[in-house]
Amino acid sequence: MDAWRRLSALMRRIQTVNAMRTWSRGLQRKGVTIGLVPTMGALHEGHRSLIRAARLACDAVAVSIFVNPLQFGPLEDFDRYPRSLAQDLRICRSAGVDTVFIPRAQEMYPADFETVVSVQRLTRRYEGLSRPGHFGGVTTVVTKLLNIIRPDKAFFGQKDYQQAVVVERLAKDLDLDTEIVVRPTVREPDGLALSSRNRHLSPEERKAATVLYRALSEGRELIRAGERSVRKVEAAMTRLIRAEPVVRLDYLAVVDPITLDEVRSVRGRVVLLLAVWIGETRLIDNLIVTAR
Ligand code: PAJ
Repeated sequence: MDAWRRLSALMRRIQTVNAMRTWSRGLQRKGVTIGLVPTMGALHEGHRSLIRAARLACDAVAVSIFVNPLQFGPLEDFDRYPRSLAQDLRICRSAGVDTVFIPRAQEMYPADFETVVSVQRLTRRYEGLSRPGHFGGVTTVVTKLLNIIRPDKAFFGQKDYQQAVVVERLAKDLDLDTEIVVRPTVREPDGLALSSRNRHLSPEERKAATVLYRALSEGRELIRAGERSVRKVEAAMTRLIRAEPVVRLDYLAVVDPITLDEVRSVRGRVVLLLAVWIGETRLIDNLIVTAR
């Protein structure tokens, strides 16, 4: 076992930016590599898979748990967002996390805070259109976390596809010294992507929620069977969603995996992006499909 790890068998909980910086710079001076998994807590198997990937790829693992007020609109579910810190800490401990960073909102955004990091074109569509201001909050907090910790690698889920592309753009454009790693979506056995917001679903809504993956799979099957018309793929997916009375479609798009531009006919790799409302809960999902 590495000497630094023997000295720190207990998982650390850090609440201040300064202490977090000291922890990470101390390890980096010893040549210890650091993996960061940024989260908003309410941890589930999706987060655990990112922690596992970080443990495999880096010597030390930090998880940040911060329900970032900046990425929620005034009418959104910040107050209703699930918080389960005690359980989150248990999950982190059992997953072998070395340090959990749990800053308070005032620590990240003191009263005189006034800077917003903004990725332009990529954030103007899909999630950015449905949730104005959302990505400004995400890119600002991610930039802060990457600057505070300066991890060798930071781990994100494909589940939030547009977010992953935006974060990759940000890291590249701002010359951040962190490799962004994107890991596959973890799903329930019936295909529903794990999400902290799933716990808001009533039993009836939970059943209807399988329509996200069913619609995405239908799109994938059509493309695999040779369909190249995006209009037809979208029509088939929309039909499935409309058949669920409690589900309301927010957006559905077939896009280029890198530019996120909508495509009209399928060539090579595309991403099917989907967002729906189920009662009061908004869920997103996506699938990467390669036309063969
Ligand atoms: P949160 O929703 O907690 O997600 C944290 C990370 O877990 C994100 O990278 C997300 O894509 C990933 N994730 C969520 N569900 C997943 C699943 N089913 N399979 C694989 N990965 C999954 O995303 C955020 O927090 C925030 O926007 C954040 C990046 C932390 C900035 O505040």
